[in-house]
Amino acid sequence: MSIWSESTQSRAKEILAKYPEKRSAVMPLLYLAMAEDGWLTEEGMTEVAEWVGITPAQVQSVASFYTMFKRERTGKYLVSLCTSISCMLLGSDDVLAAIEDESGVPHGETDEEGLISVEHAECIGACGGAVACQVNYELIEGLTAEKGRELVRWLKKARPEAVNTDEMQELFGGQRSFEWALPSDVGAAGPFPAFEPYGTATKDPQ
Ligand code: FES
Repeated sequence: MSIWSESTQSRAKEILAKYPEKRSAVMPLLYLAMAEDGWLTEEGMTEVAEWVGITPAQVQSVASFYTMFKRERTGKYLVSLCTSISCMLLGSDDVLAAIEDESGVPHGETDEEGLISVEHAECIGACGGAVACQVNYELIEGLTAEKGRELVRWLKKARPEAVNTDEMQELFGGQRSFEWALPSDVGAAGPFPAFEPYGTATKDPQ
């Protein structure tokens, strides 16, 4: 019997139906497990193993390879700040220090409440918009130390159900790498990506 909610099970069935080989669905199902529990628990990974017909050890070997699969408790908001070369040259070390100071969370850690996690990230592909940051993988470009502090204060106070890249760019961003063609009408409701078909999040989570 599944430990997942009915809605997660029906999403899992939709995803599995897209793959000729069930085991190919292991990664999207790991995101579902994260959406269900907020992070990848042992039980969640065992559940994924049962759905795709491989062993829990095989699932863990996939989950442990990719940094976006979080196997430790992660805050509702995962703040990932790029500290690679373009961002570093434009002051990402200072931005990270400001975010750590304002949140009280050193990189790689989560606050006691489970609200905010902070991590430094390798290049997230937005070098033209350095300093680049993501909250639950929703992008903000042109972040400064002061705007980083404002971002943390906003997360603590507003506690949005889902974070949206356009909204955060408007509130806290600066120079963009390019003008984004289409506004994004979805946001991330947890520390996992908000892309379809997983439906892990929308601006108005069901
Ligand atoms: S170096 Fe920061 S996004 Fe590429």
